[in-house]
Amino acid sequence: MVQSIRRIGLLTSGGDAPGMNAAIRAVVLTAAASGIEVIGYRHGFNGIFSQDFKPLQRTEVLHVIQYGGTLLKSARCQTLQQPGGPEQAAAILHQHSIDALVVIGGDGSFRGCQAIAPFYQGQIVGIPGTIDNDVDGTDFTIGFATALDTALDAIDKVRDTADAFERIFLIEVMGRHTGYLALAAGIASGAEQIICPEYGEVDLPDLQQDIRQVQQQFGRGSYIIVIAETMYPAGATVLASELTKATGIECRACILGHLQRGGSPVGSDRILATKLGAYAVEQLLLGNAHLMMAGEQAGQPVLFPLSLTGNKKKQADSYLLNWQQRMLQDSAAGDEPG
Ligand code: F6P
Repeated sequence: MVQSIRRIGLLTSGGDAPGMNAAIRAVVLTAAASGIEVIGYRHGFNGIFSQDFKPLQRTEVLHVIQYGGTLLKSARCQTLQQPGGPEQAAAILHQHSIDALVVIGGDGSFRGCQAIAPFYQGQIVGIPGTIDNDVDGTDFTIGFATALDTALDAIDKVRDTADAFERIFLIEVMGRHTGYLALAAGIASGAEQIICPEYGEVDLPDLQQDIRQVQQQFGRGSYIIVIAETMYPAGATVLASELTKATGIECRACILGHLQRGGSPVGSDRILATKLGAYAVEQLLLGNAHLMMAGEQAGQPVLFPLSLTGNKKKQADSYLLNWQQRMLQDSAAGDEPG
């Protein structure tokens, strides 16, 4: 029998992502349409422990769809990882008469959901919100499209100055241990090189040789390398000075960092967030959503087990990975890229 839901707990957790407010709005509006109360916990799971919460009515989500960040604040939660943390969180949720918990975040946040589940009597559903796009079970995560556009805006600007000075630029993008952002930003900006986990470790002599070949062919000009964070343990700035020494060409590093997490969500993130927020609540009401994530595959909303969201089975676009590689080889061989 489907347990009736009167009150939903909602929180945003982990790295904030543009579109989280749109997802909060969709959860609140969809719940309100069925007469269900939503309680928003602030600062991620921390808000459960500190009992820092507020009821969210339609008025609280008026005109928030266009804003980045999260009106509920976000955080990573140490207490949940301590022995007894998950039991305590579940007990507080029971005390607050929370019949279902909705968590907007990435796979780390979904691990938190799974830790609480054995002690909690309600349903728990996840909504994927992270700029990293590294969540299995959904083609895209909320925030990825905006972060990509933000990175592109920056890279296009760097291209102007790189051209003017005929410099090499290393532009470091976020993405934690995955290369979704780096690959997409590299392809869409027309970068000469992309360094991301999918292509393996940085090979300095190879890189140097490619720069030399490209410059022999096309003359001196800008050369842009989009590099995923964590690809060079000493950091992009150190790699830039090593490249300067090795090539004799001025190389600069530009670390985009948290810029990529901010800003107004692009249309596709607002739409994805609205769809997934609404779908999560509808599926909760049907009793289908326990320990599931509301994702999107091939344009359709789907439920996907939270336990599988962190398996890292989702692949970066293999067609584009191969294409970029082929173009590099062609340019090294002397053929002008198309
Ligand atoms: O997971 C989102 C993300 O922005 C990653 O891309 C990045 O590695 C990390 O969070 C940065 O975390 P923090 O904001 O704690 O520095």
